Amino acid sequence: MRILVVGAEGTVGQAAIGGLRAGHEIIKAGRKSGDVTVDMMDAASVSAMYAKIGKVDAVVCTAGHSYFGPIDTMTPTQFLDGMKDKVMGMVNLVLLGHPHVNDGGSFTLTSGILSRDPIRQGANAAACDGALDAFVISAAIEMPRGIRINAVSPGLLQEAEQKYDGFFPGHDAVSSRRVGLAFAKSIEGAITGQVIKVD
Ligand SMILES: NC(=O)c1ccc[n+]([C@@H]2O[C@H](COP(=O)([O-])OP(=O)(O)OC[C@H]3O[C@@H](n4cnc5c(N)ncnc54)[C@H](OP(=O)(O)O)[C@@H]3O)[C@@H](O)[C@H]2O)c1
Repeated sequence: MRILVVGAEGTVGQAAIGGLRAGHEIIKAGRKSGDVTVDMMDAASVSAMYAKIGKVDAVVCTAGHSYFGPIDTMTPTQFLDGMKDKVMGMVNLVLLGHPHVNDGGSFTLTSGILSRDPIRQGANAAACDGALDAFVISAAIEMPRGIRINAVSPGLLQEAEQKYDGFFPGHDAVSSRRVGLAFAKSIEGAITGQVIKVD
């Protein structure tokens, strides 16, 4: 398969690629890193990327930053910035990308555990995760030409434990191997409209 991975050089992106069988052609994308550069928050940049790379069998997004901060000081702008980045970035890739995906291809987005297992300062991240889960469940029933769409919803990855030290009390971090298998299930398997949880 020809697979575009936006966010390929990140923690989750590397786990996703690591879970795939050998032999795929992987096109890595990021704002600064990868084979092709894109800012998924910018519709023109997303369209230019798709025009440049040509048709693919699968689009995977493991990018996006939500806002982390306490609810009592969070501003509407901070909340909206998180939604624009993580939610609209991934939605842009789907809405502008499906004509560039081959029949029977797939989209796999990355949400996260916080919509079902909250932490302090995680309200924006939780809202982004929940929005993405709802989007794939609904979009799946009307994707054209047999194109599938799923979300992988991982817990904190072991590789990110240090970065988020103290933010996830009591959470049992998940291995990149298990996260990679969830991406493989979506990309190489046959399911659609699913939120694949890795807790
Ligand atoms: N890490 C975890 O434990 C964990 C757990 C559950 C869910 N998640 C979710 O998984 C996603 C990725 O997390 P991560 O920890 O892997 O992040 P990360 O290590 O910071 O990697 C993010 C990647 O996305 C690219 N990127 C960022 N913004 C972009 C944009 N606007 N357009 C295109 N590419 C962009 C970055 O490349 P450039 O720097 O080149 O742009 C980088 O390759 C996030 O949505 C996060 O909420 C992460």
